[in-house]
Amino acid sequence: MAGQTTKCVLVCGGAGYIGSHTCTALAERGHRIVIADNFANSSPRVLLRLQRIVGAPVECERLDLRSKSAVTRLFKRHRFDAVIHFAALKAVGESFERPLAYFDNNISGTINLLGSMHDAGVMRLVFSSSATVYGDPESVPINEQARLGVTNPYGRTKLVMEQLIEDLCHADGCFRAANLRYFNPVGAHPSGLIGEDPAGIPNNVMPYICQVAAGRRGKLSIFGDDYPTPDGTGVRDYIHVMDLARAHVVALDYLVRGDGNLTVNLGTGRGISVLELVHAFERASGCSIPYEIVARRRGDVAEVYADPSLARRLLGWRTRLDLHAMCRDAWRWQSMNPDGYQRPTAKTKSSPLASRKTMT
Ligand code: NAD
Ligand code: UD1
Repeated sequence: MAGQTTKCVLVCGGAGYIGSHTCTALAERGHRIVIADNFANSSPRVLLRLQRIVGAPVECERLDLRSKSAVTRLFKRHRFDAVIHFAALKAVGESFERPLAYFDNNISGTINLLGSMHDAGVMRLVFSSSATVYGDPESVPINEQARLGVTNPYGRTKLVMEQLIEDLCHADGCFRAANLRYFNPVGAHPSGLIGEDPAGIPNNVMPYICQVAAGRRGKLSIFGDDYPTPDGTGVRDYIHVMDLARAHVVALDYLVRGDGNLTVNLGTGRGISVLELVHAFERASGCSIPYEIVARRRGDVAEVYADPSLARRLLGWRTRLDLHAMCRDAWRWQSMNPDGYQRPTAKTKSSPLASRKTMT
């Protein structure tokens, strides 16, 4: 079957949290991968960890997608069959403070990437979108027909990128894209070698819980217990990052088969409250998680969870890993790496990987 052939895949942002896990799934499927990353929000150390997991050198190019000339050179050096595009800035709060930086990084980078893909005749793209494009949903579960409406500049960049890609697909019938709307990715690779390593104070709840369990933070602040949800705390659709990683592999197969373009939700379809998450984590880790209820966080909504049935129908994909596995694997990563990858400081950061490097 054509979809079973192996490909050379450019993974933009492949050193990041979801990108690195997806690299393991791509390698397992037999694809050759080339990572392109500027390490703005990741550590070059992930490359050696990846190499240990996949058992082979991991090729990586240090570059910023905002540099058109660097992206052009990248496509001259390699013959890619497809691209998976994770590279973006993603912190909602920061995006309010630095909207220009978010638009510049996310949109300009994507324009350069799409331009080079088109020039090089690379016509298959898997794109990281987000449930953030649904804003405050009118009802749950959310399906792909739901009204789109963003509530922050980061979300707006995701929506603009989705639209840009859609316009490109219309303009060129040979260009195929899979637009994957992730809900709340958590957990880590079962080896404990790679995982989520947020810089500074975590914005998202799971890494925060992990750092409380590890003793790096005193207690979790739960943002509101007066939502119209069963226990009053916010409800989200947490999805194991390895299930998410596998979805990229099947989406790529779908594009390679030529079955058309795709926009799908990636979630479990099950809403979990913050308190449920805390208790599941305590059971999986054996650690107690002290918490206090504080005011709601600006911009938060009560309940967000997916209707993932379209992904099941089109891709034959469904989640396999439950909440216990998400908590267990997140905790394994955290306890094996209490300080994450221990990123180099800004000063040392420029040296470990020059402009081009293959980790051997
Ligand atoms: P991440 O920050 O861990 O990974 C993104 C990677 O892209 C990082 O390694 C970063 O250094 C790199 N990068 C950013 N800008 C770049 C540029 N201009 N040039 C080259 N590299 C660049 O984030 P993640 O959690 O792995 O998210 C991956 C993608 O998924 C992002 O597009 C994000 O918006 C989307 N997403 C994430 C979540 C989530 O909860 N993590 C949810 C929905 C969608
Ligand atoms: C956030 C982003 C969203 C992004 C998603 C995944 C906002 C407003 N939205 O969503 O755009 O796609 O992350 O990266 O930031 N919570 C606490 N205490 C904490 C942290 C969170 O109680 O310290 C609660 C939140 O109120 C929410 C739930 O935990 O109810 C999940 O929060 P979080 O992990 O930040 O994800 P989202 O808010 O869904």
